[in-house]
Amino acid sequence: MNYPLHPRRWRAFVNVTLVAGVVGLGAISLPAAGEPEPLWAYGFLTPPAPGDKAAPQAPPSRALRPNEDAGEQTKLRQVAGSKASYSRVDVRDGGHVIDWFPEDHPLMTPIIANGPAAMGLLARGCASCHLPTGKGRPENAPVTGLPLAYFIRQIEDFRSGARQSADPRKPNTVTMAVLAKAMTDEEVRLAAEYFGAMPWTPWTRVIETDLVPKTRISGNLFLPIEKERTEPIAGRIIEVPEDEEQAEGLRNPRSGFIAYVPVGSVKRGENLVTTGGISVVDGKVVLGKTIACMTCHGPDLKGLADIPGIAGRSPSYLVRQLYDMQQGARKGPSAPLMQPVVANLNGDDLVAIAAYVTSLVPPIGGDHGSGAGRH
Ligand code: HEC
Ligand code: HEC
Repeated sequence: MNYPLHPRRWRAFVNVTLVAGVVGLGAISLPAAGEPEPLWAYGFLTPPAPGDKAAPQAPPSRALRPNEDAGEQTKLRQVAGSKASYSRVDVRDGGHVIDWFPEDHPLMTPIIANGPAAMGLLARGCASCHLPTGKGRPENAPVTGLPLAYFIRQIEDFRSGARQSADPRKPNTVTMAVLAKAMTDEEVRLAAEYFGAMPWTPWTRVIETDLVPKTRISGNLFLPIEKERTEPIAGRIIEVPEDEEQAEGLRNPRSGFIAYVPVGSVKRGENLVTTGGISVVDGKVVLGKTIACMTCHGPDLKGLADIPGIAGRSPSYLVRQLYDMQQGARKGPSAPLMQPVVANLNGDDLVAIAAYVTSLVPPIGGDHGSGAGRH
């Protein structure tokens, strides 16, 4: 697989900041706007070209595709621990979302299973991308356990255009905005209450490594093409399903993800997240380049008031959001609070922060959590 080598040029800037801190000048603002896109977080291999736009996603359809075998596609399948059976056609029918484990979540209402009523046959249920448990996948978003006010504000931001993807090619963020515009306020409230009622539980296993499996990208999601780890991680995070057939082939919402992260990134991230990156150089305290996340996201990063929980969530998602905010693609009414947090962070910092935040496993609790979470 080809990928651009991770840039090293930030080292120089970081050293300048440290020196300035030591002599008492405080933090210097780094030119964040020039930071290259973390392509892996968006599920692309090459940067967008000027004028690139997302190809609209095809509406959900039960029709067989030209090269498909009818027997294979309509054969009923099972997953361990479920009494249900579904075919591949059922699995991909985003207008009627399948439900392997009704006991893992509240009763799915029409907005969750079928999508905004106003869209008719073009509608997709929220659970088709975010899963009935709301745990989501690296290429969309984890929506379980979000504060009501935060959830509703995001839908409003998608509607107004204040929330977009910094990568103009990302198709599903565009679909998300279309759905936000089609939803009634009542549907938004019902969706926010449904997902907000479930506590976040473990979903992504973090593994520090120098080598990752070779992967291919399908729908902005990385899928391993072999078991052995032979490809240099090269400063990226590579997030893949624990089991491709379960997660991708059958959309089993108990089958989670593995995030391969660079060796040492969790520890480095811990310092940035818990102190803002304060260090001691030659006996002097040097100011950090960001603000301790607990200040606003709560002591366990599980959220506070209308600020969302981030602990344990997909690192690809987290890095996309931080980069989107840095680039001004996410600029809703509450986004300015995050500006001083992201302004001075470089690509390596985003990787380290996400590696640590994802590695925080929130305690499992509540009556209707999504059970084991991963297999
Ligand atoms: C086609 C897939 C898809 C469907 C269907 C979908 N979403 Fe999304 N959703 C996304 C993507 C993609 C994002 C943003 C990810 C990004 O840009 O990084 C998102 C983000 C969100 C967020 C923001 C989460 C956060 O933490 O800020 C909310 C809230 C949300 N979706 C609610 C819904 C609701 C409600 C529905 C059902 C009407 C729905 N979504 C259906 C793909 C989808
Ligand atoms: C000054 C308060 C503040 C601090 C400090 C802060 N955040 Fe935030 N953060 C927010 C607010 C407010 C939002 C919601 C923005 C919105 O509604 O658009 C947010 C949103 C986010 C999101 C998007 C979550 C989602 O579901 O899409 C991420 C990721 C995030 N913060 C990460 C961090 C990290 C990592 C740190 C520490 C390095 C941090 N934040 C420190 C206030 C803060």
